[in-house]
Amino acid sequence: MEKSIWRTKPISAYEADMKKSTLKRVLGKWSLTAIGIGAIIGGGIFVLTGTAAYYHAGPALALSFVVAGIACIFAALCYAEFASMLPVEGSAYAYAYGTVGEVFAWLIGWGLVLEYMMGAMTVAVSWSGYFNKMLKMFGMYIPENLVTDSISYQGEGFAFNLPAFIIVLVVTYVLAKGTKEAASTNNLIVLVKTSVVLFIIIVGAFYINFENLTPFIPEETTIIGSHGTPEVAYGYKGIIMGASAVFFAYIGFDAVSTQAAEAINPKKDIPFAIIASLLICTALYILMSLVLTGMMNFKEFGTIPDGLTAPVAIAFERATGMTWAVILITVSATVGLISVLLVMMLGQSRIFMGMAKDGLLPPIFKEINPNTKTPVKNTIIIGIIVALVASSTPISTLVHMCSFGTLFAFSMVCFAVWRLRYTQPELKRGFRTPALPLIATAGIATNIYLIMNLERSAIYMAMGWLTLGILVYFLYGKRNSVLNNGGYDNLQD
Ligand code: ALA
Repeated sequence: MEKSIWRTKPISAYEADMKKSTLKRVLGKWSLTAIGIGAIIGGGIFVLTGTAAYYHAGPALALSFVVAGIACIFAALCYAEFASMLPVEGSAYAYAYGTVGEVFAWLIGWGLVLEYMMGAMTVAVSWSGYFNKMLKMFGMYIPENLVTDSISYQGEGFAFNLPAFIIVLVVTYVLAKGTKEAASTNNLIVLVKTSVVLFIIIVGAFYINFENLTPFIPEETTIIGSHGTPEVAYGYKGIIMGASAVFFAYIGFDAVSTQAAEAINPKKDIPFAIIASLLICTALYILMSLVLTGMMNFKEFGTIPDGLTAPVAIAFERATGMTWAVILITVSATVGLISVLLVMMLGQSRIFMGMAKDGLLPPIFKEINPNTKTPVKNTIIIGIIVALVASSTPISTLVHMCSFGTLFAFSMVCFAVWRLRYTQPELKRGFRTPALPLIATAGIATNIYLIMNLERSAIYMAMGWLTLGILVYFLYGKRNSVLNNGGYDNLQD
């Protein structure tokens, strides 16, 4: 038996895995699309838009969303082809295992922890911030040391982000109870937040002041950036930097691919849901950013209170004078973030499950509870880690690491889908990416370009994380790999 870190998992092994799966198939086309939208629309559009307009793109923020959206469409098309061939729960990790080799697959899976688990942590902290803001609107206050972590806390004594901790435990409970229950909760939240986004776009459009949108692309200049140092802003460079900054807002559509084992008709519906959720959100984001920068001059976002932390609510209130709308937007952002958290944690548990089935993670991650038909222990372990880290560290500053993990996985998926067309052209594909060489090359190039525009410190930390991953692989995964221990030998393609 050949033992190698470069071996690929035979496609027949995926088919055997799928036959053995005891997860319940409960998700239809629109529930899957709602899972995508549930993960996409969140803190990104409600929070990052102010910073991106003020420090990077100006009114051309909408173009930053176009650029980031295009980078995602390339990856989404490649994800869709993969999902139509290999409808398994491991997403990019599983795709890489079937095409590029074990060590790469592991690295992608390890990188996806940055996307899903770290994404969930940052969302939990943002949720706590929104929740606190919402309570204040209703005249209720939580002591400062119970809504912040002890590292960021300026006062004396102990601090702990209690709302972040509690919301993660609540979501863990919903996820452990069953995928159908989680999907119903998600559907409801998606309905609320999509309606509010549409409300802002439609009503806000009547309050656009076209002077705020002229010139649409301000001339490139140097300003004092968000870190207090001189930075190039606006012009075409500003649009690209804005695209990297708002990329986080798009993260989530790929989470649909982690649900393949629970989809009723995965080969058709997963590709549909990936592309549909991304297109719907891209359209909403572009319109929302036009309305936002049309309602309020981009230069004001950095100069008025809450302009950078709650830009949508503030711009809407100032332009329309509807003070109640701020409450509506804050409440719906608070509720809306719960579904992002839900899908991120759901995705992470299914990726870990895929890795455990292959022996690269301990078997506890693949155990399915016979009553709920979900990986309960896996979900609880993830819940505890996310809750503890989110409540005790200033994780919200690390959104760029989350973007790194995602962009890294996107580039690998573009590469892997292209490679598989050559190595296994005969495989049945329910969806074929059009002009694949072009789309894959463009996907890899744009994703790497966006990585290069992320904050340096985040890039270094993410590299450190990947290096740690290699170490863990050699200490655990390589030795326990089912593939390398002959587990799939009788199934070779
Ligand atoms: N796209 C998600 C958000 O913006 C992660 O919160």
